[in-house]
Amino acid sequence: MISHPVSGRLPVPRRAATYHSAMTRVFSGVQPTGALHLGNYLGAFRQWVAGQRESDCYFCVVDLHSLTVEHEPGELAALTLDTAACFLAAGLEPDLVTLFVQSHVHEHAEMAWLLECNVSFGELSRMTQFKEKAAGRGAVKAGLFTYPALMAADILLYDTDRVPVGDDQRQHLELTRDVAMRFNNRYGETFVVPEAAVPEAAARVMDLQAPTQKMSKSEGSPLGRIDLLDGPEEVTQKIRRAVTDTDGEVSYDPDRKPGVSNLLEIMSAVTGEPVAEVASRYQQYGSLKADLAEALVEMLQPVRKRYELYSSDPGEMANLLEQGADKAAAVASKTLARAKEAMGLLGRTA
Ligand code: TYM
Repeated sequence: MISHPVSGRLPVPRRAATYHSAMTRVFSGVQPTGALHLGNYLGAFRQWVAGQRESDCYFCVVDLHSLTVEHEPGELAALTLDTAACFLAAGLEPDLVTLFVQSHVHEHAEMAWLLECNVSFGELSRMTQFKEKAAGRGAVKAGLFTYPALMAADILLYDTDRVPVGDDQRQHLELTRDVAMRFNNRYGETFVVPEAAVPEAAARVMDLQAPTQKMSKSEGSPLGRIDLLDGPEEVTQKIRRAVTDTDGEVSYDPDRKPGVSNLLEIMSAVTGEPVAEVASRYQQYGSLKADLAEALVEMLQPVRKRYELYSSDPGEMANLLEQGADKAAAVASKTLARAKEAMGLLGRTA
């Protein structure tokens, strides 16, 4: 395993340790596949924002990933810009972090091919997200199957130390680590081996109407999902109508009481209190729901305000993404060149 000059876990191997500075490198991404929701916010964005001052952060709208299922070509560009505006709305500061669009940095697709040649059919077949997404689809795209190699490419291109993600991405992160270590063993130290950073509370926010399924951009009913840009009335309405159960007892028991447990966990993530303490404060579902709705409205209000600001100037947003792509490409091109050389590909002379 190779680590950074600063983390001090292991001596820095000769080939990979050329670049980055004293800061921890962070990379993460979101697909532009629909309105972002509370799960994205609590699982990913909040961690991104919390670490943006002390880390060297790269955040990416992973548009190539969104091509792995049917998409609407006429909507993708606007959704990509909108997703980037949501990154800033969530609280990222444009002068602290590098924001960019995956397809603007061609190294992602090229690195994905190198990694596809270092991951096995069996490993990709075991990915639960592939199995879930492929189930019930008539024609499954090859890209959906090889998706985890592209995700590994995203991460490894940036010599990433930490990848803040929700719980559903753990398995992809494990695969990324395996591929990086295997590559380093086979071809010499080339990649930094990254670690997943998954939040303690609300790592998997569940659908409010179907609390055994995760809250998702593309599945489930709109009532089951709190969108990042929902106003006070929508938030209050959705929490009030959230599915609970009939025994009327507030306690945290995800297997037996998934609906109430989901609400308790969201409350715990929002207030920072341990979930057991939150549960001990309530006797009735009604008061838990009322307080949760109020806390969420308060949390999301500044997000909506910032969104209005950033989405009102798509030209400026596009400029920011151009600059981000230049910065990202400068890092990614070096890592790609290193990986190609390690695998023995003939370099160009000019
Ligand atoms: P995506 O676009 O589905 O989700 C973006 C982020 O939100 C988290 N998340 C959730 N967290 C808690 N509860 C939920 N219900 C919930 N739903 C989504 C996800 O875990 C993720 O952190 N494959 C990734 C995108 C990706 C990526 C990467 C991420 C591509 N390359 C490299 C990190 C690093 C995905 O589909 O996320």
